Amino acid sequence: MRNSLNKLEKQQIISMLTFANAGGALVTTRKGALQSMPTTEEIHKLLETNIRNEDKYKPGVHFSPPSHWMNDPNGLVYYEGEYHLFYQYHPYSNKWGPMHWGHAVSPDLVHWEHRPIALFPDEHGAIFSGCCVVDWNNSSGLFEGSHGLVAIFTHADTCPKTGQPRQRQSLAYSRDKGRTWHKYEGNPVLAEEDLIDFRDPKVFWHPQSERWVMVLVAGDHARFYGSKNLIEWTLTGEFGKGEGSHDGVWECPDLFELPVGDSGRSKWVLIISIGDNPSIPEGSRTQYFIGEFDGNTFINDNWPDHIMWLDYGRDNYAGVTWSDIPEQDGRRVIIGWMSNWKYANETPTGAWRGAMTLPRVLSLTSRDEDVVLTQMPVREVEQLRKTSVSRDNITVMAETPFTLQTNGDLLEIEADIDLRSGNEVQIRLKSSGESETRIGYDAEREWLFMDRSNSGLTDFHSSFACEHGARLAPINGKIKLQIWLDRNAVEIYANEGLVVLTDQIFPEAPIERLEVSANSGQVVLNSFHIHALKSVPFPIGADEVPSRGNDA
Ligand code: FRU
Repeated sequence: MRNSLNKLEKQQIISMLTFANAGGALVTTRKGALQSMPTTEEIHKLLETNIRNEDKYKPGVHFSPPSHWMNDPNGLVYYEGEYHLFYQYHPYSNKWGPMHWGHAVSPDLVHWEHRPIALFPDEHGAIFSGCCVVDWNNSSGLFEGSHGLVAIFTHADTCPKTGQPRQRQSLAYSRDKGRTWHKYEGNPVLAEEDLIDFRDPKVFWHPQSERWVMVLVAGDHARFYGSKNLIEWTLTGEFGKGEGSHDGVWECPDLFELPVGDSGRSKWVLIISIGDNPSIPEGSRTQYFIGEFDGNTFINDNWPDHIMWLDYGRDNYAGVTWSDIPEQDGRRVIIGWMSNWKYANETPTGAWRGAMTLPRVLSLTSRDEDVVLTQMPVREVEQLRKTSVSRDNITVMAETPFTLQTNGDLLEIEADIDLRSGNEVQIRLKSSGESETRIGYDAEREWLFMDRSNSGLTDFHSSFACEHGARLAPINGKIKLQIWLDRNAVEIYANEGLVVLTDQIFPEAPIERLEVSANSGQVVLNSFHIHALKSVPFPIGADEVPSRGNDA
């Protein structure tokens, strides 16, 4: 241990004591002296089981904080072999509060190690959402001839003159791969006195104009700024008034270019999350626009009233993409907060609250004149498959459903469904008790839906128990569903990610049975694979502990 004990964060002390306690528990239940000493692996195993018993909704494959409240993903960046995931974090409560940036790192987007809190609130306020970039050429002058990470985020406080909320953009930098962070002395670097909502900067290097571009949101529109050094910013354009959905305040923008299939063309994607509005049952959700970026502003390819949703479930919000994934890899990977402002503070999860979606690769494809986004979990998720069962050619009728006992409650399901004469096919995910989550496809309406009204605990908020869905056209009379089930959520990808539904569920008992049925007529499961998944350990990184003192 390189640092003295009094420099440790409360959470680190809790983790160390929990670890020691679990080791002690193993020692006292064994006979003999030496033989009773547990290995680290055994202690981790015991801890994992304890967590599972204590907290049945703690996800097994989705990222969640070690404890307490989490919302948006922040500062997503790949640097020197590591993916960084920072997140809006309240380390002293399981409800939203003064925001910090929590931190985790991963070699593969699947196995995350929790790291100490990266950014604490300071004299300029709480640390709201933002991004990280690699300053490869030391354009900021912060890296003494080398390169490093710069976080660009919103400082949120109250304006002393007006008493109104104030949001300004600030910088922090790290010279040691994100282990320790320093706030920039000249913070804030961007303020607009007249804008009350002015937040969530996302920055990227734009080679054509040889400068950094920042997109951020200001209530009902996105604004674009340019900078040579990440420190001085000039407004270059605005987009959004009267465009797309304005059901809620605009939040968490992202802007990037993607190829359109193999057409040789590319398009720009502008992602905008929109906040909750009491009169909208869907709550907070995410829309996207397709168009061009000319270095100054975004130009929409579609009519202003054309609205495209990223996800048709209720729990995918504030999603943004990783910066600096190497060109040889070439993927654009997004992760979202798997909750909804409508009920996020009420979910029945316990001492922790909030999880992320699976990380997903975004692609563009052409559909009936339109260019649309598709998304699928990153291929790294495949390493979680433990045991698999495959069946082909199963005919399902109303009287003869297909049922299967699942091997665990962490599952990946792949179903190629030939709709034949069936008018509605349903996949029911059932617990030992009464609860079930229904996924269905209504062939007549060409409608994919998810029904969580009887999925377990739902009464913590009046809008949680619901059925919702999206239009999905079959392809040659068939649909393909890929489903990931965790202890707290289900993600449904239809026709290779053309339509996606992400929803939290809180089953009273673990899901243990699966039933595929047809309301009438017959459907054929051309193929059906079900993979039991390994539970991912999310260890708490123990060394290289930075102290608050570093956070100047
Ligand atoms: C989105 C959001 C952001 C803000 C952050 C505060 O969920 O409201 O606009 O920066 O959360 O935690």
